[in-house]
Formats: sequence, C-alpha cells, structure tokens
Amino acid sequence: MSKHVLVVSSSPRKGQNTDLVTDAFIKGLESAGHTAYKLNVGTTKVNGCIHCMQCYKNGPCAQKDGMTPFYEEYEKADMVVFASPIYFWHINAQMKAAIDRMYALYIGKRLVKKETAMILVAGAPEESVFKNALEFYNDVIIGQLGWQDKGTFFVNGTTRPGYDIESYLKKAFDFGASIK
Ligand SMILES: Cc1cc2nc3c(=O)[nH]c(=O)nc-3n(C[C@H](O)[C@H](O)[C@H](O)COP(=O)(O)O)c2cc1C
Repeated sequence: MSKHVLVVSSSPRKGQNTDLVTDAFIKGLESAGHTAYKLNVGTTKVNGCIHCMQCYKNGPCAQKDGMTPFYEEYEKADMVVFASPIYFWHINAQMKAAIDRMYALYIGKRLVKKETAMILVAGAPEESVFKNALEFYNDVIIGQLGWQDKGTFFVNGTTRPGYDIESYLKKAFDFGASIK
C-alpha cells in the first residue's frame, strides 16, 4: 500500500550529509510507490514553543513560521520520519524545536499515532554517539506517543578521513525502498 511520508530534516547545511542521505531515502520511498514531503527545519526558522496555550484553546499553533507546513502535511501523512545531525551527543536544537512544536497537536489530542523512523548523522565513528538521540526516539516517539517504529538509520564518521558518503546514500535509498 502506498504511503504519504512527511520527512523532517534538521541540518542547517544544505547539500551536506543529513540533507543528501534524506534525499536518497526519499528517492527510495518514491521508487517503492510512496509519496514524500520534505520539510527542512534546519534551513527555515522554526521557533521554540512559547507555551502560550493557544493550541489548547483554539489550535493548532499561534506561531506562523517554518513549522506551519508541518501541521498541514501531518494530517495527510501515514508516516513521519525525523532526520537529524548529532550535536553534542543528541538530536540538534532545530529538531528538538520542531518536536516541541508538535505539542500543538498533542495537547489538543490531534497527535494521531503514525508510523515513524529516524535517521541520525554523526561526525564521530563510534556507535555510542547515537545513544541519547536513540533513547529519545525509543522513549518518547515510540514509548510515550505510541508511534510504530519502522526503523532507524545511522551515518557515522562524517568528519573522519576515509568517510565515504556513497555507500550511505545507497543504503539510505534501500531503507526508503524497503518501507512497506
Ligand atoms: C554544534 C555541533 C555539535 C556537534 N556535536 C557532535 C557530537 O556530539 N558527536 C559527533 O559525532 N559529531 C558532532 N558534530 C558533528 C556533526 O554531527 C557532523 O558534522 C554531521 O555530519 C553534521 O551533519 P551535516 O553534515 O548534515 O550538517 C557536531 C557538530 C556541530 C556543528
């Protein structure tokens, strides 16, 4: 069955690792007959939640900024994918701001359970660099929100000599193509 996938990517660097791997993943999705909408919250301004509680009263969100398309696309999406670079052993602030802004849906009980996946990109080679981001994904997105995990994808060693993005692009494409 074909899905509509909202892909939230949070690197501020266009044409770099997270961006390129996300695009390869989307090409894989499309090759399998799915449609995707890519929202880059790293290159557009997404403010943090200001706890104004308008979403609780009238919804969906008082702030109009780079997050606005998220709310529209969310309604249509079967699956939401988060793609973040690792900054200080965690998802970056841009991704956290976007996830905090999902409160506008959560508080009004409009945060319908979706399928989900996470793509993480780190400069360091060791797998332990993903620990906090992965815990957050498992505890909050899967555990607290109850979304259905469709997989995680890791890119590491981007800042190290010998790093080869091509092999990751192929694997990211295959991951996208494998989504059922
Ligand atoms: C503020 C900042 C903090 C970072 N912290 C980490 C870190 O804790 N661990 C790590 O492996 N790489 C860290 N990096 C490196 C990035 O994860 C790496 O360069 C990654 O490729 C960035 O994604 P991009 O290429 O898509 O922009 C950091 C980079 C920045 C700018």
